[in-house]
Amino acid sequence: MWPPHFYRKKDCWISDRRQGGGVRRKMWRMFQENAGKNTFLAAGKERQDMSVVEYRQVRMAYGEKVIIDNFNLSIEKGEFVTIIGSSGCGKTTILKMVNGLVQPVGGEVLVEGRNTREVDLAMLRRNIGYAIQGSVLFPHMTVEKNIAYVPNLLNRKDKKRTAQAVVKWMGIVGLDDSLRSRYPSELSGGQQQRVGIARALAASPDILLMDEPFGAVDEITRGSLQDEIARIHRETGITILFVTHDIGEALKLGTKVLVMDQGSVQQFAPPREILHDPATDYVKKLVEKERRRCHLPEEKLGDCAYSGVI
Ligand SMILES: Nc1ncnc2c1ncn2[C@@H]1O[C@H](COP(=O)(O)OP(=O)(O)OP(=O)(O)O)[C@@H](O)[C@H]1O
Ligand SMILES: [Mg+2]
Repeated sequence: MWPPHFYRKKDCWISDRRQGGGVRRKMWRMFQENAGKNTFLAAGKERQDMSVVEYRQVRMAYGEKVIIDNFNLSIEKGEFVTIIGSSGCGKTTILKMVNGLVQPVGGEVLVEGRNTREVDLAMLRRNIGYAIQGSVLFPHMTVEKNIAYVPNLLNRKDKKRTAQAVVKWMGIVGLDDSLRSRYPSELSGGQQQRVGIARALAASPDILLMDEPFGAVDEITRGSLQDEIARIHRETGITILFVTHDIGEALKLGTKVLVMDQGSVQQFAPPREILHDPATDYVKKLVEKERRRCHLPEEKLGDCAYSGVI
């Protein structure tokens, strides 16, 4: 539980790092003060066995209109869950429940074992990246400042560390260094999306929520962004919840695919199973096109490239 760079000397905890010790001491004090208070950070890291995100009998309604009812789902650490379903079926709502932007009217959502109703939402959100379709960048800030926004909050006195984080994440999402002093309005749609993803990732979140993040880019850019997010997932092991309208994308990226219709779960299974054994007519219709695209005999459909198997 103790951060490794702290050691005990007499009765106080001391950082063995020279740089930024003051900031770390301050954060450590906050950490200790919050340790008994049901905060997100204090509890999260010790639990290996439970789900990262768990929906328990969740119900959501706006006025009379029920959007989601008796929704149960458990997402394991490191899973890449793609979410697909008809428009208005509640995908964005499900995503927003993870970072507390929406609270269910019934049931509960647990993130790393903590009820989102009871945690400090600011603390919770620091650990959760959120990337959505379209430009959600700060228009008056350069690419560099946009990406540095959260790291800056965390390393207020360590500008060098923030600058290193910006270089690192621009490289990972494939943004050329020459773009760092441009404003969002001076970027293409695809470049803006990459900045949005870099900004979400630069906070080193344990969970990344992506709501149709590649919706507005051309096929080629989309393909390379898909490859990049798959690589980032492999390399960092973070848990991703990714909403898409493209079944090919859902099957290609997901370690598990959640198919929703009218606020209810049609199937939640690995891509191979979705292709092989569609659980309902809705899923069957959804995957039909993809099954044909694979040009494989029925018994070999599980080997379809979109299943992620090959
Ligand atoms: N703040 C709100 N007030 C009233 N109704 C809302 C609100 N937010 C969402 N809804 C409704 O809840 C339903 C689910 O919305 P949600 O945005 O989760 O759908 P979605 O599956 O993400 O749809 P899409 O694929 O079109 O993005 C929709 O019928 C929507 O109109
Ligand atoms: Mg939506």
